[in-house]
Amino acid sequence: MAYKILVTRTIPEVGLHLLSKKKNYELDIWDEKEPIPRSVLLKRVRGCHAILTLLSDKIDEELLYAAGPQLKIVANYAVGYDNIDLQAARAHNVIITNTPEVLNQAVAEQTIALMFAVSKRIVEADAFTRAQQYKSWQPDLMLGIELGGKTLGIIGAGRIGSMVAHIAHQGLGMHILYSGHAKNEALENELNAKRVTQTQLLKKSDVVSLHVPLLPETRHLISTKELAIMKPTAILINTARGPVVDEKALLKALDKKQLFGAGLDVYECEPAIDCDTTDHLELRALKNVVLTPHSASATHEARTEMARIAASNIIAVLSNKKPLTPVV
Ligand code: GLV
Ligand code: GLV
Repeated sequence: MAYKILVTRTIPEVGLHLLSKKKNYELDIWDEKEPIPRSVLLKRVRGCHAILTLLSDKIDEELLYAAGPQLKIVANYAVGYDNIDLQAARAHNVIITNTPEVLNQAVAEQTIALMFAVSKRIVEADAFTRAQQYKSWQPDLMLGIELGGKTLGIIGAGRIGSMVAHIAHQGLGMHILYSGHAKNEALENELNAKRVTQTQLLKKSDVVSLHVPLLPETRHLISTKELAIMKPTAILINTARGPVVDEKALLKALDKKQLFGAGLDVYECEPAIDCDTTDHLELRALKNVVLTPHSASATHEARTEMARIAASNIIAVLSNKKPLTPVV
């Protein structure tokens, strides 16, 4: 039987190759630089048996209906799947898969990179130096803060959060606090990590790093009240999902220097980095924030493996085998 597969963006060759070498697969690849427009997506999914999607593609009732009852799998090219309505997928008997594990190292390294970039003011110092403002050595030029021996609070000690904790503890001797629903025995045994309430974590941490998925209960997990509890010397890192932080509240806190700084890879109104263009607050105008374009998993290693897993999930399901990494 011939299968129709839509891939909503050009992914690394290894994934496309796995799919294209299947004789009975008819591949449709959206190979533009811009994301596939919704109206085009709704047309191109019609009759598909599998769709390989990005985190920017909204997979909901309307799309599943537009695809038709032959659709078997949506393979998301991401670990997060908040772009997918799981209940609708279940109702349509569509399997959803993600790409866990293979991006842990990339995202953990980006988290640590942001911690350093903020604490040592790397981006600000680079801009200063390029602008030829470095005129003389000064005792107080670009003063930052050290991470060694400080306390790192991990909100959501899952796979990625745990890896960040390992690097920070083993490399920098950081003390690890974590909060979340589940006790993480391995983290407690291996790193002497302590599970505390979120309030205690915010109060005591020098760096707070977010590693929770976006769910109704994690939306605006960090807002005015939470930011007010943090130390004025603390750093907030978000490599999880933008809406986990109330960005307006963060902007106000950074503007008032209520925190030392923040490192952000994700944004509340992504890809826009400013939800409200009518106020005077803008992330990109602040020096105490380092911004990256949702690129935490962007390493050759991670993206190659993500492509391989997403394609392999499709091949497994279309061969009536179990998917490698199902989410439902
Ligand atoms: C990236 O944000 C992902 O979820 O893979
Ligand atoms: C994501 O995969 C996580 O568990 O942190």
